[in-house]
Amino acid sequence: MRDDFTAVEGLWADVDLPAIASEFGTPVYVYNTAVIKHQYERLVKAFDVPKLALHYACKALTNLEVLRYVRTLGAGLDCVSLNEVRLGLMAGFSASDILYTPSGVSLNEMEEAIALGVGINVDSISLLEQLGQAQTEVPVCVRINPHIMAGGNSKISVGHIDSKFGISIYQLPHVLRIVEATGLKVHGVHMHTGSDILDVAPFLAAADILLDVAHKFKDLDYIDFGSGFKVPYKAGDISTNIEEMGELLSVRFRDFCKNYGREVALCFEPGKFLVSQAGKFLVEANVVKTTPSTVFVGVNSGLNHLIRPMFYESYHHIENVTNPDGKARIYTVVGYICETDTFGTNRQLGEVREGDILSFSNAGAYCMTMASNYNSRVRPAEVLIHEGKSHLVRKRETIEDVISTQVGTGLFEQVNAEIS
Ligand code: LLP
Repeated sequence: MRDDFTAVEGLWADVDLPAIASEFGTPVYVYNTAVIKHQYERLVKAFDVPKLALHYACKALTNLEVLRYVRTLGAGLDCVSLNEVRLGLMAGFSASDILYTPSGVSLNEMEEAIALGVGINVDSISLLEQLGQAQTEVPVCVRINPHIMAGGNSKISVGHIDSKFGISIYQLPHVLRIVEATGLKVHGVHMHTGSDILDVAPFLAAADILLDVAHKFKDLDYIDFGSGFKVPYKAGDISTNIEEMGELLSVRFRDFCKNYGREVALCFEPGKFLVSQAGKFLVEANVVKTTPSTVFVGVNSGLNHLIRPMFYESYHHIENVTNPDGKARIYTVVGYICETDTFGTNRQLGEVREGDILSFSNAGAYCMTMASNYNSRVRPAEVLIHEGKSHLVRKRETIEDVISTQVGTGLFEQVNAEIS
């Protein structure tokens, strides 16, 4: 059986994680460009269509150096906020390589995006109508909700009938009416049904729906199938078979182009697929505590740095990288936050001594970008490994960073001076 997790983890074989922990301190996120490149090339190879465009879903990991690296591979960007757009532009992406896909924003915000020159993706009838009435010359993409249930859990399933995302497939006649009445130019159609979608079947079912929709628009330049490929989280874990999906979807897409009468681009917006396994998170074991039922390892991090296990019950593989050959023991790995923040229960790790460095896998996507300052803790540093060398690409925060946006009023100083 194929084991994509182990194959990709092999790209970390030469990286000395304990040395990185000593050089840069912990907690620290470490990203490996070799993994991003490997995944990017796999995806390109999986599709056999005349025009393929990959837009990296940068919400997964927005460090500017990562964006600059992804750009060298030839990718564009999928952005969901104006600040992500600005980061993309700062990283050197041209506006025409950025598609802006926000959810539930005002016309003002869309107009700002138009002023920045990026492509815009419209996810409500109301916004489509307003853009049409604004008589914009700018072509738009329309985000369709195909009403397909797909995704690893309810929080990340976004293409079903109860989801807030996109314009319902049943409202297509209304979309066409607005387009006809306002003269709005639709140059793209889009869908994104969820994240961590394992089976190829829901992708293909949704793709068939989107291709049907596409036939209704005569001026398309691209069809964007979003993303959601499931990545593996441990050895032997199941993941989307990208090669199989690429083959099946390419056949359908080539047929579509033939019937449509011209070649349009096939787009995807991978986030996890490109960067999930490209990241490791290194923490230090602060305390090993044995209770009547459990041996806990308490580490110098918590849900403030990596919330996925607590928020989605996501599995992140954990290893003791400073004692990998130690006698295996069963541990529950927990954070230092003042509420229950369990990273993993019943994990077999080489015996953990206080001071050992633990490494979490799949820490590239939605880890640092979802980090917070809860408990007034600072966010970690980030290190990028490129061609065998490690580079600091974000400094660890300080207390000054944490309070930098607070404004003192002076209102309480006198009373406090009196009581002290
Ligand atoms: N395109 C759109 C419009 C999206 O909303 C997303 C993710 C993607 C592409 C990329 O999907 P991916 O390839 O990463 O599955 N925080 C959650 C995942 C939220 C995904 C949000 N949208 C997690 O940590 O599992």
